[in-house]
Amino acid sequence: MLNEQTREELWRRLIETVENYLTKIDTARVAPELDIEKIRGALAGRDFATPANAVEALDFVADAMWRFQVHTGHPRYFGLFNPASATMGIAADALVAAFNPQLAAWSHSPFAAEVERHLVRAFGQKFGYGRSAADGAFTTGGSEANHTALLTALTRMFPEFGEHGLRALTAQPVFYVSSQGHHSFLKAARASGLGAAAVREIPVDDDLRMDVGGLTDRIERDRAEGVRPLMIVATVGTTSAGAIDPVDELAEVAAREGTWFHVDAAWGGAAAFVPELRATLGGIEKADSITFDAHKWLSAPMGAGLYLTRHSEILKRTFGVATGYMPRDAAGLEVADPFTHSIQWSRRFIGLKVFMSLLVAGWDGYAEAIRHQTAMGDCLRRRLQGSGWDVVNRTPLPVVCFVDLALREGATAEYLDAVCKSVVASGEAWLSIARIGDGGRPVLRACVTSYRTEASDVDALVESLDRARIREGGRNVRSRSEAI
Ligand SMILES: Cc1ncc(COP(=O)(O)O)c(C=O)c1O
Repeated sequence: MLNEQTREELWRRLIETVENYLTKIDTARVAPELDIEKIRGALAGRDFATPANAVEALDFVADAMWRFQVHTGHPRYFGLFNPASATMGIAADALVAAFNPQLAAWSHSPFAAEVERHLVRAFGQKFGYGRSAADGAFTTGGSEANHTALLTALTRMFPEFGEHGLRALTAQPVFYVSSQGHHSFLKAARASGLGAAAVREIPVDDDLRMDVGGLTDRIERDRAEGVRPLMIVATVGTTSAGAIDPVDELAEVAAREGTWFHVDAAWGGAAAFVPELRATLGGIEKADSITFDAHKWLSAPMGAGLYLTRHSEILKRTFGVATGYMPRDAAGLEVADPFTHSIQWSRRFIGLKVFMSLLVAGWDGYAEAIRHQTAMGDCLRRRLQGSGWDVVNRTPLPVVCFVDLALREGATAEYLDAVCKSVVASGEAWLSIARIGDGGRPVLRACVTSYRTEASDVDALVESLDRARIREGGRNVRSRSEAI
């Protein structure tokens, strides 16, 4: 254990380091040089033979993280739903590391467990669940929440599943997600024993939303073939293009077909906290379960996912186990021990970063931040269109997919990839490429995901793209087409 004086020096340096990072992040390259030799070279001398000074160790790591990571909190990071950490979230994670509450048994950390219960109900209400009906569990992220959804659906639809497994079922269960849905469902299908072939990828319409007719046709075909429709998944804010499936219509299909209805609102669910965007999620309150990630649009440091359900008994039925060694002090208190409620056992106090951020920002503070990012998304669309880029997705959320107007038909994946790589390598901004729609059309993808992003950062991205286009020959092609 380090002595008091060393700890004081360490904490002082830690605070300086964090504050320096937060105030100067916009001066960094957004993406690092991907120089594996340099990174391995820096680690090579660190063989743990000679103990390092604490402050020196901190400086070494902080310096390396400055140099060798994509700065997702950077105002010009237009990336994959990764957050710029909220200040209170950083403080909360530090507190959690210090107090290290154990969230397996309620009686070990009753305050922490009750904070999470309080949050589950507050989020449940925001999504339209009745206050007393909502149950849920904090997860490492959206993937675990989606996996939890599949396991709870299996438990609810097949009472014999928990005890006897899939082998006891008379028909193969399958579930439905749009072709644009998240690939964590494939992993969940594998991990649950269903197998990836049980995932039915349903085609999408021109707006990249699940085609309801395509879904009902597939269900009909599946029933005719003797397999059992288990769950329909609606995605609110697809990863590639921010598309929002027709939640209300899918809820109706699920009710008619007697399947579990899950809404993956990992990113887009935050629209529920902004009055003028709330209607885009209409029908989410009918979901049997919901995935929501606070470590996406609520800017909680990773990882902070949430699984919510309106079935108050289902988590206990899915994950409940009795042991002879876990504390039993909560018996008779009508509380749930978290380890009987989730895939995880020993567990970090995930909810604190969400709780402390919400305490300070309030719902209104978050609504303001989400509104700002949505406005920056609109700004990005306008700037791109004004600069000869063609926006090809429609969504009220700030994720923009686009191609080069001059190369509309001829835009190859290689060309877009080269433009993207060129921007990223410049260190000026970060964006990615994606493939959207059932044909897998290649596009450039930029998402406003940092609450720090301002119109000047949007301009910087578009200027960087314009320069990359010239470097990669797009401009020549454009002038050729203009000449004709
Ligand atoms: C729609 C959607 N669902 C689920 C996930 C998985 O979430 P996580 O990365 O937190 O596990 C993502 C990740 O981006 C996502 O976009």
